[in-house]
Amino acid sequence: MIHNLDYDTRLTLERLLPRIQPKASSDAEWRDFRTNLDAQFPRLFQLLRGLYGNQYDFFYHLESLLHILFDAFQERPKVLRQQDRQRLKDPLWFKREQMLGAACYVDLFAGDLKRLRDRIPYLKELGLTYLHLMPLFKAPADNSDGGYAVSDYRQVNPDLGTMAELKRLASALRKEGIVMVLDFVFNHTSDEHRWAVQAQQGDPEYLDYYFCFDNRDELAPYEPYLREIFPEVRPGCFTWREDMQKWVWTTFNSFQWDLNYRNPAVFNAMLGELLYLANAGADVLRFDALAFVWKQAGTPCENLPEAHRLIQAFNAAARIAVPGVLFKSEAIVHPDEVVRYIDFDECQLSYNPLFMAMLWNSLATRDVRLMTRSLQARFPIPDDTAWVNYIRGHDDIGWTFDDTIAWSLATDPDHHRRFLNQYYTGQFPGSFARGVPFQENKTTGDCRVAGQLASLAGLEKAIDDQNDEEIDRSINRILMMHALILSAGGIPVLYIGDELGLLNDYSYQQDVHKQNDSRWVNRVPIGDAQLELRHQPDTPNGRVYAGLQRLIRIRKQTPLLGNASTHIVDTGNVHVFGLTRHRDAETLVVLANFADFEQSLDRHLLQSLLPAGSERIVDLLDDGQALPDGHRVSLQPHQVRWLVAERQGV
Ligand code: GLC
Ligand code: GLC
Repeated sequence: MIHNLDYDTRLTLERLLPRIQPKASSDAEWRDFRTNLDAQFPRLFQLLRGLYGNQYDFFYHLESLLHILFDAFQERPKVLRQQDRQRLKDPLWFKREQMLGAACYVDLFAGDLKRLRDRIPYLKELGLTYLHLMPLFKAPADNSDGGYAVSDYRQVNPDLGTMAELKRLASALRKEGIVMVLDFVFNHTSDEHRWAVQAQQGDPEYLDYYFCFDNRDELAPYEPYLREIFPEVRPGCFTWREDMQKWVWTTFNSFQWDLNYRNPAVFNAMLGELLYLANAGADVLRFDALAFVWKQAGTPCENLPEAHRLIQAFNAAARIAVPGVLFKSEAIVHPDEVVRYIDFDECQLSYNPLFMAMLWNSLATRDVRLMTRSLQARFPIPDDTAWVNYIRGHDDIGWTFDDTIAWSLATDPDHHRRFLNQYYTGQFPGSFARGVPFQENKTTGDCRVAGQLASLAGLEKAIDDQNDEEIDRSINRILMMHALILSAGGIPVLYIGDELGLLNDYSYQQDVHKQNDSRWVNRVPIGDAQLELRHQPDTPNGRVYAGLQRLIRIRKQTPLLGNASTHIVDTGNVHVFGLTRHRDAETLVVLANFADFEQSLDRHLLQSLLPAGSERIVDLLDDGQALPDGHRVSLQPHQVRWLVAERQGV
């Protein structure tokens, strides 16, 4: 079998390469391409054969794919090729303690791409090495799902600038050591994309780029199995197009048409767009809604094995033409499924929605058991990959955790989710949070929560109530969560505006194109006035900023918070979350108190976690001071400790 596969692979290459080689401008160029190709083609070929091998024109599409790869390789700017080579030598560059990410909307943060360049000094001041620009492509004018309905992957939304400006920004960022992250919105295009327009005109080639059905009966094999993503605004997953007299598959909004990856032409076309973005300077591509990309009758059409193979095929292809580029998975699904996308050969990076949801969970319950058990099960991922740890982003919070773990704690998962929704929408008595429900599903009772970090953590209510004690407490909550994403292992990613403790923006309720999508409450404009707040040390904004700066500074000086393994620890105290980071013989212990009261732990616990003979234990977050003698280690409400055994002779 293996021998046969090798033989098939070799023969296929022997037949195809003579058609590509004449394009090479030098022997050296061809040699470089061949090195990458020889390393990845066997895998790519096997994956594509599995997905498309039974189609009559497979070989034709394979040949065009090789052309696409070679063209992109040839067009790759020199600096990016150099960077590719460096990254191959240092494949775990993204795991360093210096790494710090942020996400922002170009328009909300700077106005446009040109002015975003003027914000680079601020990004540097923050310590960023990674910037995710929310979708900035050409998109429908009124409602584009915040840019996630792309009409042209090679054109920037004219309000934000041009592709040339994007490239200039990418190189300006690169010079400052900041990698650029762009979305690869590949599950769907907008209905204004050229392919969709051609489908609307009845072109059979492009009808086959999407899922179009002539009558309702044809939906029956799919519809009963599908989850509704936006049930309030978009009941069902299909849209009737009067103009076409067809149903079109639209998992998200009616104007976001799902692409048909059963068609190898779609794979090739989207690979071309991926490589284009990589050559424009994207260092990381965020694989949007990747769980949904493969459809199969009689299944939920989420997380199917073919979806993984498809992403692996993109990975193998990218490593031939643009090998320094990383993929980031956006799988907001069950924790068991989230981890399946994480692999150096699939997505090297992944959002960590479980950690995010568990931080909020423990903040509300003051109890860390669900977080501890959930993360013990699902935090470990391969050493050559990394989590993207975040507290808030542009989307809603969904209460993702494994129901069986909840049951093991005698917690009814559905009741608990209802409680969390009540808590974070401020309906639960005593709640500190000011969130807004998102996409309440009247049939299932399901709902998610939108809101800015600071508002969800209590700052908005505390300010309205003019309650100084609560203001202090909410700032401590905000800093505690940041201290955890900065130390748990992975790339911490801030959501721009959160570093200043900015509150909910309710103005979306007055905008007809936004009022149905409460996620806009956490998409706030950040102008010069907001940025100035960081210079006012006595305001909540200035305090959040200064506290976060301090945490970031210490993280960056602590290699144990970079490329080191993580173990989630049961501290024996239901209010205190713990984890350890290990590298070589060194260990760092992270402790965080989620209770509103002082808590303490037995010092023996620390001793058992740290290397034997560690007598003097210092807290990096307490100016490196040693813990006082005594049998107990105490933590103030929402205090975090980063503890290490002091090295001998220090
Ligand atoms: C992702 C985005 C979200 C968008 C959806 C559809 O989940 O984060 O904002 O609505 O994909 O593209
Ligand atoms: C999750 C998110 C939602 C997103 C969807 C698609 O359900 O909560 O905002 O659009 O995933 O990834």
